[in-house]
Amino acid sequence: MPEHIRRHSHRVAAVALYLGRLLNENGCRLDLRLVEAGALLHDVGKSQALATGERHEMLGAEIVGRWGYRPLVPIVRDHVHLDPATVRGPITESVLVNYADKRVKHDEIVSLAERFRDLVERYGRTPKHIEWLEEKYRLFDRLEKKIFGHLGIHPQEVGLMSLGTNP
Ligand SMILES: [Fe+2]
Repeated sequence: MPEHIRRHSHRVAAVALYLGRLLNENGCRLDLRLVEAGALLHDVGKSQALATGERHEMLGAEIVGRWGYRPLVPIVRDHVHLDPATVRGPITESVLVNYADKRVKHDEIVSLAERFRDLVERYGRTPKHIEWLEEKYRLFDRLEKKIFGHLGIHPQEVGLMSLGTNP
């Protein structure tokens, strides 16, 4: 795994674990070992997929499946897309890793708004695609409100924003 993807993945794992612990203190029953392993491996298919044009989450899911990490398959596979039904459903390990990934730009912890602004700048080539990204942003914003509705902290809480800056 290239160094920059490794650094990104470690930061995503830090965010997901931080939120997972808080969620579990507030009534959720997330398997934090799954959250951590899923976050560390969520982009395992990225560099190969860039070369072949495959969808990196599908390739990554296939890779972790081949390695025998069956419980990680849905976490890796579902870390990109989000639909309204998932937002309405329970907060699972997959949902948490997906959300944590949207809070990490490269290896920097940012707000959802900043992450999506960056996505629009990098990938928003047509008005239609920008509109699609904005719709995704609204969906993740709803998920964020749901996650933080369980917790006593703000999404940009200092403890969360500074995770991993003092290793
Ligand atoms: Fe990814």
